[in-house]
Amino acid sequence: MKTILLDAVGSTNDAVRRYLPARENTIVCARRQTAGRGTKSRSFLSEEGGVYLSALIFPSDMPAPEAFRVMAHAAVAVCRTASAFGAEPEIKWPNDVLAQGRKLCGILIENGVAAGKVDHSVVGIGLNVCNSLHGIENAITLSEAASRALSVETVRDALIANFRQSSTFGDYLSFVHFLGRDVEVIEGEARYRAVARRIAEDGRLEVECGGELRLLSAAEISLRI
Ligand code: BTN
Repeated sequence: MKTILLDAVGSTNDAVRRYLPARENTIVCARRQTAGRGTKSRSFLSEEGGVYLSALIFPSDMPAPEAFRVMAHAAVAVCRTASAFGAEPEIKWPNDVLAQGRKLCGILIENGVAAGKVDHSVVGIGLNVCNSLHGIENAITLSEAASRALSVETVRDALIANFRQSSTFGDYLSFVHFLGRDVEVIEGEARYRAVARRIAEDGRLEVECGGELRLLSAAEISLRI
């Protein structure tokens, strides 16, 4: 996979789109981002010391409803990387990786869909390695989670290698530890407590509330565990 290393860039998710016309899998990494983006139109602080990368991939014959596989694959690559350095990561559905209950990594996927299929996917990963967490709430670096100093380049290369390995939905579930537990669902202005039951292969979370099962989409709700 072609890999491009940059010093500073607005957002690697935007920078990698430049390679769309070539239709070649490409990764753009930056030492820092000046306009990093998170989910739900949030910004993502991206100071030097973190891994900020975006992979442009072209899934073959993937129906749009199966796009969650891309997210699951990215989360598994991050968890395998964090585990390899001695941390104990877990996935907070759908797109955060935590260690010791704090956010280690965020993932932002932007898909291009044509004729009901995923034509291309931009997989943006921001992983705290040894960056300052000043101004970021409830976050942790991989160095802290692993209790040792880590080089950002070594972690980046391991993450890229893991991203290139295959993974299954079962691998994703093996890093999800909150099923069976009580969660708070935030749906617009409404909040309610429920028990997290399972994650469906399309990425929706099934919760049980008052004896009733509900399938929730990450786009519509937030979750407190
Ligand atoms: C989130 O936690 O809301 C998702 C954060 C995703 C951040 C990564 S860093 C690399 C890529 N470029 C961006 O602008 N965002 C993603």
